[in-house]
Amino acid sequence: MLISIFILSVIIIITSVLWKQRWLLYHAWKIPGPVSVPLVGSAFLLSATKDNFFDLLCGKLDSWRPVTKFWVGPQLYIATARPTDVEKILTNCLNKSPFYENFNDIVKDTLLTSKVSIWKEHRKMINPSFNSKILNSYHDVLVNYSREMVKYLGDTEGVEQTDFLRAIWERTLDVALATLTNVKPHVLKERQRMITVTVKFEEILIQRFHTFSFLIDFFWKLSDLHKEHEVNCQTAHDIGENIIAEEYKSYESEDRNDDASESNRFLPNLTKLNRTKQITREEIMDETCLMLMAASETAAITINTVLTILGIYPDIQERVYQELVSVLPNMENSPTQKEINRLNYLERVVKETLRLVPTIPYILRYAEEDIKCDPYLFPAGSNLLVPLVLLHRDPDVWPEPEKFDPDRFLPDEVAKRHRCSYIPFSFGARNCIGLRFGMTVVKVMVATILRDFKVQTVGMKSWKDIQWDYIVMLKAKNSRLRFEKRKF
Ligand code: HEM
Repeated sequence: MLISIFILSVIIIITSVLWKQRWLLYHAWKIPGPVSVPLVGSAFLLSATKDNFFDLLCGKLDSWRPVTKFWVGPQLYIATARPTDVEKILTNCLNKSPFYENFNDIVKDTLLTSKVSIWKEHRKMINPSFNSKILNSYHDVLVNYSREMVKYLGDTEGVEQTDFLRAIWERTLDVALATLTNVKPHVLKERQRMITVTVKFEEILIQRFHTFSFLIDFFWKLSDLHKEHEVNCQTAHDIGENIIAEEYKSYESEDRNDDASESNRFLPNLTKLNRTKQITREEIMDETCLMLMAASETAAITINTVLTILGIYPDIQERVYQELVSVLPNMENSPTQKEINRLNYLERVVKETLRLVPTIPYILRYAEEDIKCDPYLFPAGSNLLVPLVLLHRDPDVWPEPEKFDPDRFLPDEVAKRHRCSYIPFSFGARNCIGLRFGMTVVKVMVATILRDFKVQTVGMKSWKDIQWDYIVMLKAKNSRLRFEKRKF
């Protein structure tokens, strides 16, 4: 009797879940994809160690291109690498996938993670801080920190740089603090701690993903790793508190600069808006932590990847150097913003690097409504995955996709392609707010370094020899760089 009741209850539960999911199941059924088993879905196909996770994900998705579906438990994921689908998704689906809830413990309700209603309000408040006039005013700060990096490389000349990423990240964080806030980097003792906390957060996240039981909240919250995670997030909040306290002090000080391009910078502007109750102090703290992390880490990773690739291809590096010599003839002077804008070949090198190795390799959105992408319908309730790596290496769009060729970004070549065939900064209203800022930081830092140094990548013949650490971003994990001072 008891057994019959148990079996009946299980049947009722399964039937009601299937009934609720009928719309998803019906449309998912028409989309090709790997085998799926009840409860687990296709997740087992993606199980891997953290060392080969990225290769495995790329390989699997590649073999299922251009459109595929897979289930992770009850969650439906649809991945598409067709530029026309990508345009529809990024234009119509502004909500992020529940995956982004993983960031809530460290930064809640921020531009990157929040629901559309909050995101719209915050983006409206923050957008003006990224206009051209304000960005141009950062040029000198940027050049100063690039020179500091050059000094550091001079002091460590001949030493193999096994953690160049960390060294450059410290400078990009300095740039972010000095431009987006009024907090002086040398006043803020937490600068080092902030990087450590970010790295730890990402390591814990990846460990969680690779431990099956931790995907179930109950087991995750009982674990020692969760305790470590809580301590780490508390440290991040303490750092955020210190930054905000510093900024408020500066806002109240007598020598505050009310000049528009000063007071409209990111944190001074939010501090001002807090006085008129348009944003809370807590929201400012989260947006600030996100912005500093997003600005500094993405730029540092991109610079590291560009230099690693240029160290592998000396001919391309020489062409970058010749352009620097012709555009910046007086090597003693710092480059002006106008000169940086004329470094077209360097810009193509950065773009080609971000094509082959997009620093953020995947974008995930959530479909609130059905999206028609012929011959399929991506049903409301599904998670939509845009794999930039596959989009950027599609052989129908990019001949010899695995060849590193910056001239793919000559204007005539760009004009032949769909506008969503290349989107390292995403696309549409919810694209990267730091697109121009990020590109400028990368160009100025790389130009300043390469004007004084030749870079060599130890032990690699092709960019394909680079191994990648992946959680939210793609980091070159085996890159060893050697810098040799140029003789003028
Ligand atoms: C230099 C390399 C950079 C790359 C490749 C990059 C790429 C991206 C991408 C692909 C997204 C969309 C993420 C998603 O939807 O999951 C994004 C969003 C974002 N990025 Fe960047 N980014 C870079 C630099 C920056 C910088 C310098 C800043 C800040 C100054 C920044 C701030 C942000 C923010 C706040 C978002 C969320 C935007 C929103 O949802 O409204 N990024 N970035």
